[in-house]
Amino acid sequence: MIELDTGAVTRGKLAGRVAVVVGGGQAPGETIGNGRAASLTYARAGARVLVVDRDLVSAEQTVRMIVEEGGIAQAHRADITGEEDCRSIPAAAVTAFGGIDVLHNNVGMVPGGSTEQLSVTQWRTGLEINLTGMWSTCKYVLPHLREQGHGAVVNISSLAGLLASGEAIAYSTAKAAVNSMTRALALEYAPHGVRVNCVAPGMIDTPMGVDRIADATGNSRQQVAAARASKIPMGRQGTSWDVANAALFLACDDSAFVTGVVLPVDGGGALPTGVR
Ligand SMILES: NC(=O)c1ccc[n+]([C@@H]2O[C@H](COP(=O)([O-])OP(=O)(O)OC[C@H]3O[C@@H](n4cnc5c(N)ncnc54)[C@H](O)[C@@H]3O)[C@@H](O)[C@H]2O)c1
Repeated sequence: MIELDTGAVTRGKLAGRVAVVVGGGQAPGETIGNGRAASLTYARAGARVLVVDRDLVSAEQTVRMIVEEGGIAQAHRADITGEEDCRSIPAAAVTAFGGIDVLHNNVGMVPGGSTEQLSVTQWRTGLEINLTGMWSTCKYVLPHLREQGHGAVVNISSLAGLLASGEAIAYSTAKAAVNSMTRALALEYAPHGVRVNCVAPGMIDTPMGVDRIADATGNSRQQVAAARASKIPMGRQGTSWDVANAALFLACDDSAFVTGVVLPVDGGGALPTGVR
């Protein structure tokens, strides 16, 4: 796996800012997940980072990694399926660092299965975690950004929300709704100086992306990784750093006039192949 470290390039882009990364822990596995990479990248860019996760131990591990590099971070436990937990997030950021400038919504899960395989409960869980939870964190953080007259929200969507997926219908439906919600929030908050954008990762070499499929299919991690890479025009899976760097662009002032976009980070995976 290519571990791009762009710390030198990104340093300073979020100096003086506070970033809240929701889902900033790490699913177990041998590669680094999107939430942890985003937390580290924002910290390298100079932000103080509140790492929020339902798994506090995992959030604390991300914090340790940031602090070991000389950055500033704190952990906060919250499950985005609980309204009180979502309400607690801005209060925790204010207590820890005096405010919020960037909200990064990373939480997502894949309730696998086609229409006939999925139970109604699994369908509801898919929408609850991937869509309603993300909307809830926005609901409680956006008033703070509106009042201060600036801020950026970065929602992590998926290529599955842009392309049809017959294998994970609840996931792709929820992620398509995340894209739509992002555009609607961008319109709502543009007059208040608050930008709302999405990153839509394609196939990324994270524990949730690869190990989950290896566990479910009984194939090795290497087999799953090779199969995924073979479907991508650039011939490799993305890394969580590829996703984090795109998120940093949307979170910092480099994208000061950009709002409501869904930015694919996919090695060309969303390109129409056409007829040859
Ligand atoms: N890995 C991929 O190939 C891929 C592709 C497209 C999109 N994505 C998106 O990237 C994001 C996740 O990245 P990842 O796969 O690297 O996972 P990750 O390693 O970043 O782990 C996600 C984190 O979210 C936390 N979490 C889960 N449910 C939660 C909840 N209800 N409340 C609070 N925290 C919760 C987990 O504890 C974990 O720490 C998701 O939005 C996913 O849809 C991933």
